[in-house]
Amino acid sequence: MNVLVLGSGGREHALCQALKNSDKLSNLHCIPGNPGIAEIAYIHDLNPLDHQALFKFVKIHSIDLIIPGSEVYLESGVTDLFENESTVVFGPTKKATEIESSKVYAKHLMQHYNIPTASYKEFSDYQEAITYITNQEGPYVIKYSGLAGGKGVTVTPDLIVAKDTIKTMLKDKTFGSEKIIIEEFLEGEEFSFMCFVHEDVIIPMPIAQDHKPLLEEDKGPNTGGMGMISPVDSISQETISKAYTEIIQPTVKALMKENRSFTGFLYGGLIQTKEGPKVIEFNARFGDPEAEILLSKLNTDLLTLIQNLLKKKITPTLWDPDYYLGVVLASKGYPKKYEKNYEITGVDQLKTPYFHMGTKQANDTLKTNGGRVLLVLGFGQTFSEAKTKTYTEIKKIQCTNLQYRKDIGDKSQKEV
Ligand code: AMP
Ligand code: GLY
Repeated sequence: MNVLVLGSGGREHALCQALKNSDKLSNLHCIPGNPGIAEIAYIHDLNPLDHQALFKFVKIHSIDLIIPGSEVYLESGVTDLFENESTVVFGPTKKATEIESSKVYAKHLMQHYNIPTASYKEFSDYQEAITYITNQEGPYVIKYSGLAGGKGVTVTPDLIVAKDTIKTMLKDKTFGSEKIIIEEFLEGEEFSFMCFVHEDVIIPMPIAQDHKPLLEEDKGPNTGGMGMISPVDSISQETISKAYTEIIQPTVKALMKENRSFTGFLYGGLIQTKEGPKVIEFNARFGDPEAEILLSKLNTDLLTLIQNLLKKKITPTLWDPDYYLGVVLASKGYPKKYEKNYEITGVDQLKTPYFHMGTKQANDTLKTNGGRVLLVLGFGQTFSEAKTKTYTEIKKIQCTNLQYRKDIGDKSQKEV
């Protein structure tokens, strides 16, 4: 099989890593890729959003399977583009992607099919939203309905900040002209529940926990994710089972009923509340850094799994039960303004796996090229072993412009 992965981050590096050893693989391509991916796949300097160029590329290279990484490609309709072609895309159609790309749609769906989530109201009128929020008690949760590159959610105890957010979204129209939702604040521990899905067939993955805030003890601004742990001791088996039967299964069925049947990686961003698990958000693609951790744990051939799933056959999946810990090294300044082009050395000394998230190769030198730059992964039979390994390896990396959290996994593990 000839496979094409779309994207340039750690998630796509992990996907290529998982695909590269398959007996079923002929050629592995990635557009646009990164220096880590270049070591294991053919990378091509093309824009995946240029559909005409992409279509031509797929024909020339006889691509059988496309795996899009980012939601941006899915929202652009990359799956729909190959609807009547022999090439299969393991990703949802533009319409099914709305579970991520329209928070208003996702909320309607959950409300209609009784899928537990925060109660909410939607607004497109600035003044109405201001009047409503003034009469609410904090903390306030305000979400832009469309894709906003991870910047579309504000959670704040401060009414002034909440009103300012509404102004940015509905009056200044910083992200576009979409609606916003204001929703109930949920309290509890968050976790990521990801599944491989094709129509009504679901293969659940182990749960993982992202660390979105930039700083230790979950302080500072939200990021795309600063680190990841799996398993997560503090999320009970009962919560996971309930999440599967009360959230994942009904959502997949609901999407089928709505004529938006889902193919790809379905990502439930969930929270364990006193009333049981609830949905914070859905994503229509693999999480990043969830992919780096979960695909490293997967001991079943990914390509066989996807191929069988597309024929509605379930492959028994084997996951390493060890503790896996991933720590993101991000550029100083991220998630706000940051500089690029700082030299990185020492990655060739690492004894544990690592993934390129935002790097570039300039002649013989590896340089920073994004907000999140590298993810270093460690594992072990205990959490402490995984943690010690990961942080020992990280010290081998030298770069004057990187920052990382030193407490990944601490809050959710029994032993620290
Ligand atoms: P999202 O981009 O939707 O995942 O939201 C970013 C972060 O905001 C989540 O990981 C949560 O920590 C927080 N958040 C979103 N919605 C809520 C909510 N209803 N209650 C509490 N926290 C929330
Ligand atoms: N790790 C969070 C995300 O991929 O959205």
